[in-house]
Amino acid sequence: MSQNSFKISYPALHAGTNKSLIKFISGTPDLAALFFEGEEAQETRRRFFVTDATVASLECMQSFISKFDDGVCGKDCLLILGSGEPYKTIESVLNIVRAAFDANFTRKDIFIGIGGGVICDLTAFAASIYKRGTSVQFVPTTLLAMVDASIGGKTGCDFENYKNIIGTFFPATKLFYFPEFVQYLPENQYNSGLAEAFKTALLFDKELYDMFKNDADKINSRDSKTLEKIIHKCVKAKGSIVEQDFTEQGIRAYLNLGHTFGHALETVAGLGSITHGAAVAWGIGRAVELAYKKEYCMQAFRDEVFGILKAYKWYTESVPSFVKGGGFSERLITIMRTDKKNLSEKIRLIICKAVTEIQIEEVDEKLIASVLK
Ligand SMILES: NC(=O)c1ccc[n+]([C@@H]2O[C@H](COP(=O)([O-])OP(=O)(O)OC[C@H]3O[C@@H](n4cnc5c(N)ncnc54)[C@H](O)[C@@H]3O)[C@@H](O)[C@H]2O)c1
Repeated sequence: MSQNSFKISYPALHAGTNKSLIKFISGTPDLAALFFEGEEAQETRRRFFVTDATVASLECMQSFISKFDDGVCGKDCLLILGSGEPYKTIESVLNIVRAAFDANFTRKDIFIGIGGGVICDLTAFAASIYKRGTSVQFVPTTLLAMVDASIGGKTGCDFENYKNIIGTFFPATKLFYFPEFVQYLPENQYNSGLAEAFKTALLFDKELYDMFKNDADKINSRDSKTLEKIIHKCVKAKGSIVEQDFTEQGIRAYLNLGHTFGHALETVAGLGSITHGAAVAWGIGRAVELAYKKEYCMQAFRDEVFGILKAYKWYTESVPSFVKGGGFSERLITIMRTDKKNLSEKIRLIICKAVTEIQIEEVDEKLIASVLK
């Protein structure tokens, strides 16, 4: 296994959580070796591992899972939750808290989330409230969690069919990236992570944008070297943004490009019905269309972005084909009004004028409706 690492700094909100150590480990993910044989085996604190049923059933996870007998391995414990967005609930958070409490974990111990964005968000949220805060670490296993969800300290769960309504800011202290986990993902989950990476490219990294434009074959075939480069670039870019603006008072809000449209689409579709990334990619298309309608961007840029969205098979139509029933724009706008980023009754959107040229503004609802028909 070859390794390289770097650190991201956060404001010292919580003791011990002001720096994240990021480790990249190439080769087949071997968590038994990582946690029970290497440097991490020297950890003196107890570890409460949380994963989901799908990740627990991956072939590469079997040597790790088999270490636990009825969820217990020496001083450490393992909890396996249901998989996916439908389990991103307050009940799952409480299941983690309850299991850690029943096993007498203290606030000096560590929670370790092994999974996609759902497991990372849930585990970190539970860690942030458990006995007023214990440490959290991640092993992100989806591309989406590697390039986005694991970095930046946002935690939480859904509530009443609304995304991420409950949560905290609580960064992980250590992150272990095995890019090879990406090879196990089904197509739709792989594409979901790519969408967040494409968003990062549009926002901050012209070289990465050009990779998406020119290297679709390599990216679509999950070429390992290309993927490692994408993940590394995204982690660096997001790390640098959260170092500048941890609590999203300014530049961090740019990371929501495509998300106001995307979250609303996820709610309309029913949480878990489409992937987060597919919704975000569609939202990026809508945000670029809106910029074009406002004459903020050239037709050539709009067409190029739509060409890229199509090369990765993301939805580009104003009303995605799977949406049932009428009144789509009205339904979507009603949900967009509840978005956390709005500062007044007006809907605030991230507008992309060109690669790395971004601004935030309140947008007239008639104009928003015009890109949803
Ligand atoms: N905290 C943040 O800053 C942040 C940022 C972006 C997204 N998110 C959140 O992340 C969530 C989406 O994350 P996600 O797309 O990773 O979803 P997910 O965690 O639900 O994972 C998607 C599916 O892939 C499975 N899976 C995980 N790893 C796998 C692997 N290696 N091989 C095969 N299957 C695997 C999971 O079991 C699940 O069924 C959303 O809830 C979103 O709100 C959070």
